[in-house]
Amino acid sequence: MTKKMWGGRFEGAAAATVEQYTQSESFDRALYREDILGSKAHATMLGKAGIITPEEARTLCTGLDQVLSEIEAGTFVWKRELEDVHMNIERRLTEIVGPVGGKLHTARSRNDQVALDFRLHVSARLDVWSTALARLVGVLAARAEEHAKTLLPGCTHLQPAQPVSLAQHLLAYAQMFRRDHARVADCLKRVRVSPLGAAALAGTTHPISPAQVAEAVGFPATFANSMDAVSDRDFALEALFCGSVAMMHLSRLCEELILWANPNFGYVRLPDAYSTGSSIMPQKKNPDVCELMRGKTGRVYGALTAVLTLMKGLPLTYNRDMQEDKEPFFDADRTVSSSLAIMADMLAVLEFVPEAMRRALARGFLNATELADYLAAKGLPFREAHHATGAAVALAEKKGVALEALSLDELRSFSPLVEQDVYAVLEFEAAVGRRNLPGGTGPESVAWQIAVLRAWLAG
Ligand code: ARG
Repeated sequence: MTKKMWGGRFEGAAAATVEQYTQSESFDRALYREDILGSKAHATMLGKAGIITPEEARTLCTGLDQVLSEIEAGTFVWKRELEDVHMNIERRLTEIVGPVGGKLHTARSRNDQVALDFRLHVSARLDVWSTALARLVGVLAARAEEHAKTLLPGCTHLQPAQPVSLAQHLLAYAQMFRRDHARVADCLKRVRVSPLGAAALAGTTHPISPAQVAEAVGFPATFANSMDAVSDRDFALEALFCGSVAMMHLSRLCEELILWANPNFGYVRLPDAYSTGSSIMPQKKNPDVCELMRGKTGRVYGALTAVLTLMKGLPLTYNRDMQEDKEPFFDADRTVSSSLAIMADMLAVLEFVPEAMRRALARGFLNATELADYLAAKGLPFREAHHATGAAVALAEKKGVALEALSLDELRSFSPLVEQDVYAVLEFEAAVGRRNLPGGTGPESVAWQIAVLRAWLAG
């Protein structure tokens, strides 16, 4: 049995089941880069502060570099009985550099060490999410620009409501993902705070410089309270919330694409690369990527809920419960990163079917609001205009025709204010074209929205 690094006061060994139960090496080895980065920063700071000699600091850093290359080369032997990534790395370092390896942990505890590692990891992954979100916004803006003139039924209650441009529809998602990006940026301010120097919980008597360590790892701030530093995980919770909201947004887009791919809508044709067939029904082309993305949203909410629950009611400061914070984040990150990337890839090549959208427009009386607004503009109180229009729709529905197919006399039977100019007003292009106030679906508003997004992406 390998002697535990904390084994000074222990005579007996841990039960094999306990060793397996308590270890985190099987998953936290994913943090080796962050662990080595943090340890090098710590060793360098110890050297500068005169807590160890500059020579010893250099030896430790060179040794840590060797550990890093062994891990990356696949020659590093991970030992489960060493519990976690921190002790695996420190043990190998000591084998390489000798007893001086034992000095690395001066003025440090695994409690501040793991908090730094995890913060570095979350920080790096949030950078990946940010890049993926920006790319997705870029793809949506590009597809919107192609389809500024493509019209489709905009829905409320999933019922045809008013005509909108496909551009406007896509840009709605661009706004969601842009906000997700902003949320991540804001979250990063609180992730990038170095806890190193908090030690076990109370700080340390050694004359260390937490600020030097923070600077070396690229964090702009250091902890303000040692007890908070080792026991706070709200940075991870915020990240998981950001991921959850982004997945929620993706799931809505997925849901729409699934509907749109249904032949009853037929607004999109799924690229072969992003759909699958059925093993029994030869005609089928299933939107599995969208369905899975919609489904995987649950995993990310699950991760958020798991970490919220594990943190609930924990007394200060570090508690071993907190080792359970990593796997949910790793899993959520795999889902969020891959989903954002795949959605951008898929949207870039998705085939829209403007003719199908056009056919759907003709079916839903989507210009009814135009008639009501037309009458209201001629002085009829809107409630009366609404009522008269409703009656016109009922007639058209009974006859099985569109509103604009009713004759002038028929339309005038609902209000004498109707004149020949009504037909131009009822055209879908005109309906969309009149909505150019900022944020509207009109082409000028859409062009402005795209320009603002482009400027943001460039900046
Ligand atoms: N594997 C531990 C974790 O992930 C590292 C910190 C252990 N600290 C301790 N005092 N046992 O939380």
